[in-house]
Amino acid sequence: MRAIDILRKKRIGQVHTQEEIRFLVLNYAQGCIPDYQMSAWLMAVVWHGLTEAETFALTAAMVASGETLDLSSIPGPCVDKHSTGGVGDKTTLAVVPILAATGVCLPKMSGRGLGHTGGTLDKLESLGGTRTAFETAEILDQVRSIGACLCAQTEHLVPADRKMYALRDATATVQSLPLIAASIMSKKIAGGCPSIVLDVKVGGGAFMKTLPEARALAQLMIKIGEAHGRRVAAVLSDMDAPLGYNIGNLVEMREVVMLLQNNPWVEPRLKELVLLLCAAGFYLAGQARTLAEGKILAEEQIVSGAAFEKLCRIVQYQGGSSNYLQHPLQAPCARVKWDIKATCSGYVQHVDAEAIGLAAMRLGAGRAQQEDRIDPAAGIVLRQTVGQYAAEGTAVATLYTADESIARQTAPQVWEAFTLAAKPPVPKSVIYETIGLT
Ligand code: URA
Repeated sequence: MRAIDILRKKRIGQVHTQEEIRFLVLNYAQGCIPDYQMSAWLMAVVWHGLTEAETFALTAAMVASGETLDLSSIPGPCVDKHSTGGVGDKTTLAVVPILAATGVCLPKMSGRGLGHTGGTLDKLESLGGTRTAFETAEILDQVRSIGACLCAQTEHLVPADRKMYALRDATATVQSLPLIAASIMSKKIAGGCPSIVLDVKVGGGAFMKTLPEARALAQLMIKIGEAHGRRVAAVLSDMDAPLGYNIGNLVEMREVVMLLQNNPWVEPRLKELVLLLCAAGFYLAGQARTLAEGKILAEEQIVSGAAFEKLCRIVQYQGGSSNYLQHPLQAPCARVKWDIKATCSGYVQHVDAEAIGLAAMRLGAGRAQQEDRIDPAAGIVLRQTVGQYAAEGTAVATLYTADESIARQTAPQVWEAFTLAAKPPVPKSVIYETIGLT
């Protein structure tokens, strides 16, 4: 078999055999097929797509490129969760301790922020000293001891995806439904959990801009998971506006603390989504018979303080200090605090998630490139969000950054992200639909 023949086949839209896909992926992962050949194949896939059978074969080959976690020594039911990424999405940091507080086990591997989207690892590391890079044996030890681990993907898990994702990022080939589905699901399958909750984001700040696209991605990922014997469910949720009020790293940790401490000022959309994702996890793990029962169980973990205690325990176990969680006001503050004032009055119709995410990145909260350093204290706090009334002259957002000139340059972009109108907008739920939860 030769890579060139496989590329030629996809260039003219023909269907691959399982063996051809396995040959391409495994040889690429081992360095026997060069980047330029894999790039050409990826671009042909973007144009011609993959059949369902090809996508299944791609996922299986990616899983086979590395190790798979063996969770047989974990005492409780294991659940994994994945979000397709967005702006202000801190749900993992709340969902993991809530589920773990009841005995559900979560060896949760997450990613870093890139571009306008944030990443769980950066948020966790903003607390200072929290370790996120672990060997497989350490992850298993931690989950056996305290029920959950919040860490990076190990070196040995799906190495084909690590190489292919970096290549896709550099060759404009990320936007492909089968490539995204195989990339996400290969990591979930290699992660070993029998139950997987997917949060598929829809809207301007997400990969999937429309509901039909998001639904198609969710359905494909569910089919892939089921083909590997996993129970998979998906929540399709809104990412037109940022999730929650805080966008950044330390500021998002602060919002997670507020949520887990049952603070009534938490944005209702954020809490609604967290409770539903937890309910989905409980349902798939067999801990709740219905979503309603799962939401009650999740609320109980918040109200009792068990979930907050679990988050502190996870952070401490990973070498971090829970001091900033216990006393958020003692966390380092950005040098510059810059209010964005409304230049007219009106009801907030829309807050452009992508524009806010890009602005937060410019302030230092995110990375334009993988190697960029982030400023843990940088970010944006929305003072007004969709549906609220902003009077002229009042602050709609506050920017946090290290450099006044950056705040000044970014301010117009943040104000332009707001759309105001004379009438309140028609209320819209953060949840569009669920799949696999009835
Ligand atoms: N997240 C992934 O892990 N892979 C993709 O292809 C897109 C988003």
